[in-house]
Amino acid sequence: MSKPRILILYAHPAAHRSRANRLMIEAVQGLDHVQVHDLYESYPDFHLDVRHEQQLLSQSDLIVLQHPIHWYSMPALQKEWLDVVLQRGWAFGHDATALRGKSLWLAASTGGDHAAYQTSGRHGHSFDAFLPPYQQTAQLCGMRWLEPLVIYGAHQVGEAALEEHARRYRRLLESYPDWPAADAPQPTAA
Ligand SMILES: Cc1cc2nc3c(=O)[nH]c(=O)nc-3n(C[C@H](O)[C@H](O)[C@H](O)COP(=O)(O)O)c2cc1C
Repeated sequence: MSKPRILILYAHPAAHRSRANRLMIEAVQGLDHVQVHDLYESYPDFHLDVRHEQQLLSQSDLIVLQHPIHWYSMPALQKEWLDVVLQRGWAFGHDATALRGKSLWLAASTGGDHAAYQTSGRHGHSFDAFLPPYQQTAQLCGMRWLEPLVIYGAHQVGEAALEEHARRYRRLLESYPDWPAADAPQPTAA
């Protein structure tokens, strides 16, 4: 059986300054069934080619949203992408089936460390508490939501841990959908 086709929507507004996401993107180079689509590189003016984006989605089984967390959510261009690409009648609404049965996976990095994402921590909530808009977007489009892969404290985490995280990301993309239990992302509810 052929491998599922994977589309990574990479949204980093300052990719040249990235530590975590850059390493992750480098780690997944060379996988035949994985396409990395750098949104900020493709659309520096934010004028998205909706038809092209929809075509890329139609050809994919797994859609990965990879980005740093900005204000408890996604960077602006990823949000613009949702606004204009996921059209009513195509992605959601009566008889809209374009995305049905596909899977959506968030691969995110945070500045806050794991302790900050606790009810008693700096951000006041577990990371999972910020996910309903993502999850419900998947639900509305008939997509399967997968447990996110999160690297916390992206500025402080040591080089070895960061490299292991990037290798794990590659292993998960390589083995999808048969994720080995040891690698599979776990829920992070506080
Ligand atoms: C505008 C902006 C907003 C941010 N908001 C958050 C936030 O809400 N929560 C958080 O943990 N980190 C936040 N950060 C930190 C980024 O998530 C962090 O810099 C990034 O994950 C590091 O990944 P990188 O090395 O790939 O750039 C923010 C950073 C910027 C620039």
